[in-house]
Amino acid sequence: MNGRIQPPGATDSSRRWFERAQTSLAGGISSSARMTSTGPNPYPLYMADGSGARIRDVDGNEYLDYLVSYGSAVLGHANPQLTDALTAVLHTGTMFGTCNTVEVELAELIQAMVPCAELVRFANSGSEAVQGAVRAARGYTGRSKVLKFEGHYHGWSDTLAVSNRPDAAEAGPYAAPHAVPHSPGIPAGVVGDVVVCPWNDPAALRAVLDAHRGEFAAVICEPIVANNACTMPAPGYLSLLREECTARGIILVFDEVCTGFRTGPGGAQALFGVVPDLAVFAKALGGGLPIAAFAGRRDVMEPLAAGRVKHGGTYNASPLCATAALVTLRHLNQPAVTKHIEESGLRIMEAVQRAAHDRRIPCVVQGVGAMFQTVFTADGMPSRQYRDLLRADQARHGAFRHALLGRGVHVNAFGMACWFVSAAVTEDDLDATCEAVEGAFSTL
Ligand SMILES: Cc1ncc(COP(=O)(O)O)c(C=O)c1O
Repeated sequence: MNGRIQPPGATDSSRRWFERAQTSLAGGISSSARMTSTGPNPYPLYMADGSGARIRDVDGNEYLDYLVSYGSAVLGHANPQLTDALTAVLHTGTMFGTCNTVEVELAELIQAMVPCAELVRFANSGSEAVQGAVRAARGYTGRSKVLKFEGHYHGWSDTLAVSNRPDAAEAGPYAAPHAVPHSPGIPAGVVGDVVVCPWNDPAALRAVLDAHRGEFAAVICEPIVANNACTMPAPGYLSLLREECTARGIILVFDEVCTGFRTGPGGAQALFGVVPDLAVFAKALGGGLPIAAFAGRRDVMEPLAAGRVKHGGTYNASPLCATAALVTLRHLNQPAVTKHIEESGLRIMEAVQRAAHDRRIPCVVQGVGAMFQTVFTADGMPSRQYRDLLRADQARHGAFRHALLGRGVHVNAFGMACWFVSAAVTEDDLDATCEAVEGAFSTL
């Protein structure tokens, strides 16, 4: 498929499956994100199988995959060691609902890899683990309000599904944004406990903290904002968050669902040298199976350890998912593996920059090699916060993504999301990707 442009009708089977799905699945999908992320509109593609960095749809079209299940399939698809380990578990029992030895080994490995991880708890999804971290912070501090940053995403559950992507009309004043529920059905009382702040703005941060002195249990952020096209933290900003939270007795939570184990063995906290009180992990942790974790300071986790703060889950750290995570983290704990991911991504980022420069198309490629995004802004400047992205040319991103897809490169269709690179990418894959990038730019 690579190098060739998809002919009309090449994805007709996906269209037919989507028509059929709409009579049984609500909206034809299993997650709201599938429609925005996995287009092309008006129907999503149905993937049949994958191996390494490649996936194939139900029509047999092959794609180089930079969605990799939103970063989860970090080792690539059908990694042989992962497959062998999981097959062995399938033969011996996937779940007992009891303690198991794998979860202990896995927690010990996370302790060794992640700077803040003095104690660990497992969950099944990022949303659940965020809920666990917020519960732990509230239980520890006895306070209920949480500060979150406009545009940052922390899962679909009510707790923090606030001001994820407000439009300009509803977002409110820049320095004191409205708390906008992401969906009907989120109670006003829950939204009332969330205070929203612009990202990367020290003065706005201090003003919000001062206005709610003594009220915050936690400040939570995506250290690299994967859900805002990989907006990077301004130099010193994460350290400022650390200082302010320490000074005010607020629990600093890094949502490392996207950055964790991907931006290096110790995640963003190791990359930037700023240690939060709690951190949340999912995606790359499970290598494609559903497992998540929250982890952090011993004293903050202590009420949970003592059973005063409650957290449960039938499926937490099942032998199947814990094994997937153990195998995955043993890979990612080898510096050569995350280095390969990083360098592969950097090569693609450079190809995008070169193609954009050659064709004088204003855009910026931002993030790190392991996760990045192309943002079509008129001035070609990196975004500092969510509202910058409201000015980006999303239609052009859509056209770029569509042109990539037609050339056999599969990336998230949503311009505020990002590319995720897997460890399975080969030199040939990179050559083909760079060629497709060049071809896609020629159409813009
Ligand atoms: C930064 C971040 N936090 C939390 C979540 C929620 O994770 P999950 O979809 O596993 O519930 C996501 C999902 O994309 C995410 O990107």
